[in-house]
Amino acid sequence: MNSKTILITGGAGFIGSHLVRLLVNKYPTYKIVNLDKLTYAGNLANLTDIENATNYEFVKGDIVDADFIYQLFNNYQFDAVIHLAAESHVDRSIASPMEFIMTNIVGTANLLNAARSIWKTLNPPLTPPKEGELPPFGRVGVGQTSNLFYHVSTDEVYGSLGETGMFLETTAYDPRSPYSASKASSDHLVRAYHHTYNLPIVISNCSNNYGSHQFPEKLIPLFIHNIKNNKPLPVYGKGENIRDWLWVEDHARAIDVIFHKAKVGETYNIGGHNEWKNIDLIKVICKVMDKKLGRPFGESEKLITYVTDRAGHDLRYAIDSTKLQKELGWTPSLQFEEGIEKTIDWYLNNEEWLTNVTSGAYQKYYEKQYASR
Ligand code: NAD
Ligand code: DAU
Repeated sequence: MNSKTILITGGAGFIGSHLVRLLVNKYPTYKIVNLDKLTYAGNLANLTDIENATNYEFVKGDIVDADFIYQLFNNYQFDAVIHLAAESHVDRSIASPMEFIMTNIVGTANLLNAARSIWKTLNPPLTPPKEGELPPFGRVGVGQTSNLFYHVSTDEVYGSLGETGMFLETTAYDPRSPYSASKASSDHLVRAYHHTYNLPIVISNCSNNYGSHQFPEKLIPLFIHNIKNNKPLPVYGKGENIRDWLWVEDHARAIDVIFHKAKVGETYNIGGHNEWKNIDLIKVICKVMDKKLGRPFGESEKLITYVTDRAGHDLRYAIDSTKLQKELGWTPSLQFEEGIEKTIDWYLNNEEWLTNVTSGAYQKYYEKQYASR
């Protein structure tokens, strides 16, 4: 297997840390460089099991800092990039959109510019297609070519579905929150750099992830945490919104498959065909938590509190991942019932992680550790 230096951005976050672990363990000849700003959502405690691996390196830095990013690319001469760094929480984007615009749009543009600057010396060089000529779709992914910019995106760029239908790769973009609009903008930029400069890119759009190491502001870890501490469970609106849930390790496996096998220029949807109405999902969590905590059945449900709906709350997401399954042979490995129980067990068995994350102590620790670098 070829040796490659791969930049993963946002590798200290929820999905990024699962991806970093998978690639570091599976590909000993790859050098995995994890670039992360360590915002409130980034946590190096997610990666203690691989932090001393010889093929792993952590770099603290901000993708919004163009000079820093350019220097980083110049120093490391990355063969490929898998870009996950983002502001990722919809509620925060409603309260404070500018951080989303800076990181998700400007940050992505900085990475594209830096990739373009070091890969323009490629053989054959990245020249724009001639008039009337199609860009080089159909070239094979990073397994066979030297460079790839892999942009990790979300199904929220497609907007909101009614009671029927599913998002396809060809569904028109219709983002409706500052978060999804910033992700849609970044997707457009990535495609524009492919069409204009022939930058070798691939994009995937995934549905809601669940699993270990997710920051407890998102529905599932927040509700597990609150049930454990007998705190109210704030259900937005009537709890009738629908999300399509995928186990995070299956997302990381899908990224691995796409990274190695995808056709350059293509887009792949990733999802588990696993739709749940919020209130039904919450009741499952309550039931499993009652069992795990030895509480009488129905006890945790009493914590459900209906609160004011999220502004512009998208009704339903549902992903059709047939293309990925048929063309590249990926399938989800875990049934939801098993996955949610595993996830609940992880949060209950990792009380220290949850306490540190909610107290903010971990950030102070790592800030001190990396301040002098
Ligand atoms: P997360 O919030 O858990 O992690 C984001 C990471 O990016 C953190 O480690 C953070 O420190 C880092 N980061 C933020 N701003 C940065 C900056 N300016 N410079 C460098 N690093 C920065 O997010 P996640 O849930 O793991 O999502 C990862 C990616 O996957 C995002 O691009 C998100 O849009 C996408 N995605 C998420 C889901 C989901 O359900 N969570 C689903 C589909 C797609
Ligand atoms: O679809 C993929 C997206 O999934 C990712 O791109 C985002 O990064 C990720 O955060 C997630 O977005 P959602 O907004 O769907 O996830 P969240 O966990 O915030 O909310 C899930 C559903 O639960 C949503 O309908 C809102 C609702 N909710 C959420 C919270 C935090 C509540 O009812 N109460 C809550 O307290």
